[in-house]
Amino acid sequence: MKLWGGRFTKPTNELVDEYTASIHFDQKLAVYDIQGSLAHVEMLKVCGIVSEEDADVITAGLRVVGDKIAAGEAVLSEENEDIHMNIEKLLIDEIGSVGGKLHTGRSRNDQVALDMRLYLREALVTISQLLLDLQKALHKQAEANLETVLPGYTHLQRAQPVLFAHHMMAYVYMFQRDIERLSDSWKRVNQSPLGAGALAGTTFPIDRQYVADKLRFEGICENSLDAVSDRDFVVEFLANASLVSTHLSRLCEELVQWSSAEFNFIELDDAFCTGSSMMPQKKNPDVAELVRGKTGRVYGHLMGMLTTLKGLPLAYNKDMQEDKEGMFDTVETLKGALALFAPMIETMEVKADNMYEAVAKDYSNATDLADYLVGKGMAFRESHAVVGQAVLYAINQQKFLLDLSLDEFQRFSSLIEKDIYEVLAPKAVVDARNVAGGTAQNRVEEQIASAKQLFQMSSEWIELHKQLIRYQ
Ligand code: ARG
Repeated sequence: MKLWGGRFTKPTNELVDEYTASIHFDQKLAVYDIQGSLAHVEMLKVCGIVSEEDADVITAGLRVVGDKIAAGEAVLSEENEDIHMNIEKLLIDEIGSVGGKLHTGRSRNDQVALDMRLYLREALVTISQLLLDLQKALHKQAEANLETVLPGYTHLQRAQPVLFAHHMMAYVYMFQRDIERLSDSWKRVNQSPLGAGALAGTTFPIDRQYVADKLRFEGICENSLDAVSDRDFVVEFLANASLVSTHLSRLCEELVQWSSAEFNFIELDDAFCTGSSMMPQKKNPDVAELVRGKTGRVYGHLMGMLTTLKGLPLAYNKDMQEDKEGMFDTVETLKGALALFAPMIETMEVKADNMYEAVAKDYSNATDLADYLVGKGMAFRESHAVVGQAVLYAINQQKFLLDLSLDEFQRFSSLIEKDIYEVLAPKAVVDARNVAGGTAQNRVEEQIASAKQLFQMSSEWIELHKQLIRYQ
C-alpha cells in the first residue's frame, strides 16, 4: 500500500512506478532530508502539535534511519517513489505508526525545496573552496614567473609581450568573480521554504521561523506558492557554474595549445597526462581536454532547467522533479575538474626560455617603436604607418626589428636613435606598460599583492559558512 494509497482502487502500473520514481537519484538528498525532518519534528513538539513523547520517538527513529541509509543498510524502493517517502516508510517500519505523525503540517513539495537548498548550500561552500585552491595554484605560478615573458595574443596572432605572471593572474580574477557570484547567491539559496505545505501553507499552528533558525537559514520564503514552485536558485547556480566552466575551458585550451610541440611553452606533469594505446611517443593533456569537453554538459543542464521551468503554472508540478539530476551532475562535474586543476597547475613546468624565444622572434615590439616615435613628437597615426613600413621591410629582409641596423631604422624615420635597441628589448617592452592593471612587472606585483587580500576574504567567507552549515 502506497503512503498516499487511500483514494486509489488499484495498484500503480509498474511502469508508472518506474517512470515517476526519483529515488535512484534523489537518494543523494537523504542526509538533508533527515536534517530537515529532525528540525520539523522538533518544531512540532515545541508548538505542541505532536506530543513530546511521540516527537522523541520520531527523533530517535530518524537518527536510526539516517544511520542505516548512510551505512547502505536501508532498502530504498521505487514503489516509494522518492527519498522523502522512502524515509517516512523506513521510519514507520522502525518505530511503528507514530512515525506517521512526522509529516504533519508538511508536504513533499516544501520538503523537496528545502532539501535542494540544504544540498546547494553545502555545494556552494565546497566549490568556493576548490576555486580558492585553484586561484592559489595560479597565484603561485605567477609569483614564480615574475620575469617570464611570453607573447600575448589577439586573434591568436602574436600581439604584445606580457608576463606569464600577468597571464596567470588574469585567471585568478576570473575565478575570483566566480567565487563572488557563488557567495552572493547564498542569500537567495539560504531561505527556508518549509511550512509552505503543498502550496498554500498549513492549518497547523507551526513556527516556520523556528525551523529556519534551527537549520541556520537567514529567513523564510515569504510566499508559500513561490516557496514550492521557485527553482530560480537552481538556475542561478547552473548559470554561475556555467561561467566557472567557461573560465576553466579557456584555461584548458591554453594548456592544450601550450603543451603542443608547436608552442612548447609548458609541460604538464606526467601525473596529469595520459598516453596513447597505439603511439608510444604520445603524452596527451587529457585532463585539460576532458574538463574543456565537460563544459557542454554544464551548459546543457542550465538550458535544461530553464526549459523545464518555462511556462509552468504555479505552484508545484511534477516537471520540477527534473531539477535534480542536472544540479547534482553539475556539482560533481565542477568538483571533479577543480580538484584536479589546482595540482595540475601547481606542478606544470613553465618553459620560460621557449616563451622568451617566441617573443624575441616576432614583431610584437612594433607598437613600442610607434610609441617611441610619438614620444619624439610624431602623431600616432603617422608613426603607425611608418612602423608598418619598417615591419614590412624587416619581413622581406628576414629580420626582426631588433636585427635592423640604426642606419636601416633611420631610413624610416630620422627620429630613431640608438636608444631604440633598449626600448625594443622584450622585458623593456613589458615594463613600459606601467599603467594600473598593465603587464609591467611592478604592476603585476601589485596584482599579486592585492589578490592575497581577496584570498583572505574568500577564506573567511568559506570558514564562516562551513561553520554555519555544521549545525547538528
Ligand atoms: N519526487 C518529487 C520531486 O522530486 C517530490 C515532490 C513530489 N510532490 C508531489 N506532490 N508529487 O519533485
